[in-house]
Amino acid sequence: MKHLTGKTAIVTGGTRGIGKAISLALAESGATVYSLYARSRKSAELLEKEAAEKGLTITTIRGDLSHEASFTEVLQKLHEACEHLDVLVHSAASGVHRKAMELSDKQLKWTFEINFFAVHRLTRELIGKMGKGSRIIGITSPGGTRVIPDYAAVGSTKGAMEALFRHYSSELAPKGIIVNLVCPGLVLTDAAKALPELEQMLAKTLEYTPSCRMTTPEDVGELVRFLTTDGAAQIVGQNIIIDGGKSLIA
Ligand SMILES: NC(=O)c1ccc[n+]([C@@H]2O[C@H](COP(=O)([O-])OP(=O)(O)OC[C@H]3O[C@@H](n4cnc5c(N)ncnc54)[C@H](OP(=O)(O)O)[C@@H]3O)[C@@H](O)[C@H]2O)c1
Repeated sequence: MKHLTGKTAIVTGGTRGIGKAISLALAESGATVYSLYARSRKSAELLEKEAAEKGLTITTIRGDLSHEASFTEVLQKLHEACEHLDVLVHSAASGVHRKAMELSDKQLKWTFEINFFAVHRLTRELIGKMGKGSRIIGITSPGGTRVIPDYAAVGSTKGAMEALFRHYSSELAPKGIIVNLVCPGLVLTDAAKALPELEQMLAKTLEYTPSCRMTTPEDVGELVRFLTTDGAAQIVGQNIIIDGGKSLIA
């Protein structure tokens, strides 16, 4: 039997890029998966089609998590759909690409709404459904601890998320709820394609990655899947880098 059979997973930003690969990896392990997204119906439909063809159980739910009314609507649907929750993955992110000194309060607040406050609201509202053995996994970024060009807004939200997750980890581990972060290096998704200095970043990534290849969404999906296994139960409150060794290089 697959290790997530009979279990329920929610993946925010679960219909595109890294989140899509995570949704598929968890569903392939037997989970009933709810993949949340904001706007792109086409990606959601493609994922549902792919899942159906593979005999996997993935339901997509649309709603902008940074917007109060649609957050409440999504939450209500999740409460109706999930009696219990075993895996919660926060992969949704968005944000403004600007240099720090060019960032307005409005832009920074908006980026925090989706990448930080929505993460906390969703976790807080769903924690009552999570019991011993369940997992919360956040997807962070090297920009949470280091400088990526024009990444001041998103990087700040990731740094804040990492701090918040340290508290989640220590508060929830005694209840058997295991919290970790996964930190991928550059992964060629739609979000990465919007980075202002993508060409230079790609060249640097390829030059300085010891494994001599880019990290893929599927690599990240596999790591998240591993973190949901019993064998990973003693990995608590860690920020696990998956980047082919690039972060080793000075
Ligand atoms: N790609 C990289 O190089 C990289 C590296 C390190 C970390 N990460 C992190 O990995 C995660 C996934 O990134 P990605 O590159 O896969 O991104 P992506 O391809 O742009 O996908 C983002 C997902 O988040 C959803 N989303 C965005 N804003 C939302 C909102 N307001 N409410 C609800 N859902 C929202 C999107 O929905 P729609 O499809 O409807 O827009 C989409 O499903 C992010 O947390 C990112 O910071 C990425």
